[in-house]
Amino acid sequence: MDKIVSLAKRRGFIFPGSEIYGGLANSWDYGPLGVELKNNVKQEWWRRFVHSRADMVGLDTALVMNPKVWEASGHLKLFNDPLVECKSCHNRFRPDQAVGVCPNCGSKDLTGIKQFNTMFKTFIGPAEEAANIAYFRPETAQGMFVNFKSVLDTSRKRLPFGIAQIGKAFRNEITPGNFIFRTREFEQMEIEYFIEEKDWEKYFDHWLEEMKRWLKDLGVNQDKIHYHEIPDGERAHYSKRTVDIEYSFPFGEGELYGLAYRGNFDLKNHMEKSGENLEYADPETGKKFLPHVIEPTWGVDRSVLVAMLEAYREEQAATAEEGETDLRVVMKFPKWLAPIKVAVLPLSKKENLSNKAREIYGDLAKNFVCEYDETQSIGKRYRRQDEIGTPFCVTVDFESLEDNAVTVRDRDTMKQDRVKISELGDHLRKNLESSS
Ligand code: GAP
Repeated sequence: MDKIVSLAKRRGFIFPGSEIYGGLANSWDYGPLGVELKNNVKQEWWRRFVHSRADMVGLDTALVMNPKVWEASGHLKLFNDPLVECKSCHNRFRPDQAVGVCPNCGSKDLTGIKQFNTMFKTFIGPAEEAANIAYFRPETAQGMFVNFKSVLDTSRKRLPFGIAQIGKAFRNEITPGNFIFRTREFEQMEIEYFIEEKDWEKYFDHWLEEMKRWLKDLGVNQDKIHYHEIPDGERAHYSKRTVDIEYSFPFGEGELYGLAYRGNFDLKNHMEKSGENLEYADPETGKKFLPHVIEPTWGVDRSVLVAMLEAYREEQAATAEEGETDLRVVMKFPKWLAPIKVAVLPLSKKENLSNKAREIYGDLAKNFVCEYDETQSIGKRYRRQDEIGTPFCVTVDFESLEDNAVTVRDRDTMKQDRVKISELGDHLRKNLESSS
């Protein structure tokens, strides 16, 4: 984990939040490479689950919703973490972290266990009074439920169909930590898939398979994934089945994604509290009923963390010196996930080479996310590209000026091919699409 955190900072994937002011506990900012990586995760998810499916539509709802939403969903009452407070320094801790003594000041004067609501409170308008209290959403899901009727009326979808959303969620976690694993501000990719009650097992299995397929394509070693069936008594009362998809993180098992059968709990409560009829009318039979819901949910930041952990390799690799090797760190991201697809590297900074290389970069950048780099030795530049996971390096050398060809180096095999500049775009496209 330390190696990933250090690489993330050193190479510009993820920086500590507000760093020049000493940081802000457990907040992280995505740097130039991190934002590309995260966008690749989100774009592939959207392409796969929204654009490629006739039974899905997307949505982007407000971060702050009417507080009645959270009353109906049960969050105001139940979205709590148990904690104890130190009566001396007033810090709050999880009960297992402050057994009899305050870990901050050593005082033994602690309160009993209290329930602490983990929603982020704010005020709407300038007056900070109770009537103006609102909350940042703790999940994107409720945006899908409260818009169910509008989506149904405008999209003309029939059951089964799903609504998907990607966006930020906020939780005032008591014990955030482990880098981007648990933060107070994070992103989710969620689907509410609306079905008839009788079909719930079929669609639960369908979404479990889809989540497995997603993990495989993200490059995750299946041996590190555990499907944890939440037993009776531990599930929410309305759920007949919930599976937590866990991953063996370096700090232990942790939830990566979740899959839940939510019955008609959410639509029923919103219908009762809002007074709006949220029923679906079957176009064939005319029968009106509240659809049931299967909810697969993915954490974006946890996807990025797992992708980085899985991609990280240390290998002995040949150097430019005959017979010598040294350690190379390489991020073997699946190609679709790599933040930079192609690096264009002129062998020297000499003007005629740089002009040619910049021309090639200009052409490639129209179709691929590219980087141009002419600093340092070519060996160091290759190592840097390996460390950020760039699948292909294009080297422009003095011969290129004569033969109109360049060297294309493969990140994984380190094999170098001579490719005509006129065929370079096609060559890269073909190889980027091949396998992962
Ligand atoms: N709508 C259902 C829901 O929100 P959840 O299990 O509470 O379910 C879904 O959250 C996913 O969001 C988790 O599986 C995890 O990937 C991510 N997640 C939850 N809390 C998080 C946090 N504090 N930091 C980062 N990711 C988090």
